[in-house]
Amino acid sequence: MARDEPPPRGGLTVVPGGGAPEAGAGRRAGEAEALPRRLVLLLSGPNLGALGQRQPEIYGHDTLADHVQRATWAAAEHDLAVEHVQSDYEGALVEAVLGARGRAAAIVVNPGALTHYSWALSDALACFSGPVVELHLSNPGRREHWRRRSVLSGVATGVIAGFGGEGYRLAIEAVAALLRSGAPSDARR
Ligand code: DQA
Repeated sequence: MARDEPPPRGGLTVVPGGGAPEAGAGRRAGEAEALPRRLVLLLSGPNLGALGQRQPEIYGHDTLADHVQRATWAAAEHDLAVEHVQSDYEGALVEAVLGARGRAAAIVVNPGALTHYSWALSDALACFSGPVVELHLSNPGRREHWRRRSVLSGVATGVIAGFGGEGYRLAIEAVAALLRSGAPSDARR
């Protein structure tokens, strides 16, 4: 976003398509039209926009953009595209999840602190029928007691936690494996 642009409504930052090249680009005449890449919605919750500066001893020095870039590269290897949404607002994340139904094949979500109390986000994710990977840079199970409970794990297909900068790539690898093995997707194709 340019410096003088107003912030998006609701503090929402959306990066559509994750820079995945158009499938079929460079196609020669007579070649069958390739399907567009299947979409993975990558969600980042409160305070994750501050990665790089926020408690680097826990979360490392990489920015959120670095993590998203890694996820995007990993996705491209599996012919998947990433749409990234970061918001500090619970409702914006709920809307992003509900808006992904019928559009995204899978969701990867680092919910930040919403992990530990957002039944609204849990309910929204329960409406999504494709794979859902809950992702954390740190391992909340090794931290403060209140972080040990996730209200989202019960509606997630699986959880990746504690692998720092590798986590975003690992989450995409997990999604790709699940989709390859025929896990139901929420996209209508
Ligand atoms: C986090 C862990 C949460 O407990 C915390 O509130 C975060 C980040 C992680 O990536 O390790 O904001 O989700």
